[in-house]
Amino acid sequence: MSRLVVQGGTVVTASGSASADVLVDGERIEALLAPGSVAESGDLARIDARGKLVVPGGIDVHTHMEMPFGGTFSADTFFTGTRAAAHGGTTTIIDFAIQPRAGSARQGLETWMARAEGHCVIDFGFHMILSDVNEAVLKEMHGLVDDGVTSFKLFMAYPGVFYSDDGKILQVMQAAADTGAMVMMHAENGIAIDVLVAQSLAAGRGEPMMHGETRPSVLEGEATHRAIVLAGVAGCPLYIVHLSAMEALAEVAAARDAGKQVFAETCPQYLFLDESLMAGPDLEGAKYVCSPPIRTRAHHDALWRGLGTDDLSVVSTDHCPFCMKDQKELGRGDFSKIPNGLPGVEHRMDLIYQGVVQRKITPERWVELTSTAPARLFGLYPKKGSLLPGADADLVVYDPDRTHTLSVAAHHMAVDYSAYEGREVTGTVETVISRGEVLIEHGAFKGRDGHGRFVRRSPFSGLAVPVSGRGGR
Ligand code: URP
Ligand code: ZN
Ligand code: ZN
Repeated sequence: MSRLVVQGGTVVTASGSASADVLVDGERIEALLAPGSVAESGDLARIDARGKLVVPGGIDVHTHMEMPFGGTFSADTFFTGTRAAAHGGTTTIIDFAIQPRAGSARQGLETWMARAEGHCVIDFGFHMILSDVNEAVLKEMHGLVDDGVTSFKLFMAYPGVFYSDDGKILQVMQAAADTGAMVMMHAENGIAIDVLVAQSLAAGRGEPMMHGETRPSVLEGEATHRAIVLAGVAGCPLYIVHLSAMEALAEVAAARDAGKQVFAETCPQYLFLDESLMAGPDLEGAKYVCSPPIRTRAHHDALWRGLGTDDLSVVSTDHCPFCMKDQKELGRGDFSKIPNGLPGVEHRMDLIYQGVVQRKITPERWVELTSTAPARLFGLYPKKGSLLPGADADLVVYDPDRTHTLSVAAHHMAVDYSAYEGREVTGTVETVISRGEVLIEHGAFKGRDGHGRFVRRSPFSGLAVPVSGRGGR
């Protein structure tokens, strides 16, 4: 096993920043040392980080590689998607396995494991989407938690596909309370939305803009409120995924103020992309169709404030790319047939770093939102999301000054457009290390498929750090 030292950089963690050298032995961090204090030795590789930030590898807890949706599959495979993630400074993803309808959750896990194992460039875990809640699946939850799948996503949207009614949601939440699992909620009132969608189509309004119009922010707020109430009845921790609306944020903030175990993530598209993009010419607007929909700048501003106050704890991507050709095109004339989702796994660290550039958040908060808090909430800390001795040597050397332009011509995601085409960002990933192996060197890919391992996650700990100082695997 090789040893390396990342030298001369500013180490930034969620708790502070300091000049330090990071010594790596094999797959683990051995020590953080005073700059220049590591003695020369023949077997020691050196990475020059002078003038750069050295941060724990990013953790994106919301991706969908090779996900079936609306008669097609999201365009990134576990290989292309995790390679793109590595380019963007993310060293762990948690993707979503899906329980097939009329099938078992275990079957879903096996299907997704077969897709991912041996193909990932970075470490990966799974949440489980429960699409058909019944007695058998409630029993299965215990075994899945034992096997490191410690979070379950439910949908209040998409009736007939993923939707669970309030009774089923409550049952899953009760089982989660028993097992220490986290319930993740897609909080939109899908029953009401489907009425608005049908009315819009009947009125001859099938253009992409109507996707947003038929999913108003109050229906996200209402569903978020209901999810919080149900989680309170069951006594389980709740995590609202892809929160986009100020009404939903207000519900989460009120719950957190009341001391409830309620958490939420948002995604870059809800901080940077304006709803007017869905009104683009021809089918252009389809590029931006995701659920919940992208919203107005007033919502963006509220979400940035939420990131500052910790009412929003995590930034994930909800990476779910569909090409314009043959995929988004399926919804020409009928927005309800546009596959829902946006590409973004490669750009999360850079886009959220713009919050540092614009002084909306500190560098430490950037690390917390993109790495440390995801690790804590999803049973990976401190093995991941930290630079503590003994942690996995997942590191990013980040150039805070170098600019680059986001574009389909430059990105590594297997999708034929960029949602951020032409946007210049300040800050660039230079080197990425995963468990001691260099994946990205000066922007060039040096990794390999199959390096990424399945991570067995611990149950939700109520944010207590495990006494052993090591997360579960
Ligand atoms: O539009 C989205 N968000 N697509 C991915 C599926 C989901 O609901 O997370
Ligand atoms: Zn969702
Ligand atoms: Zn998603």
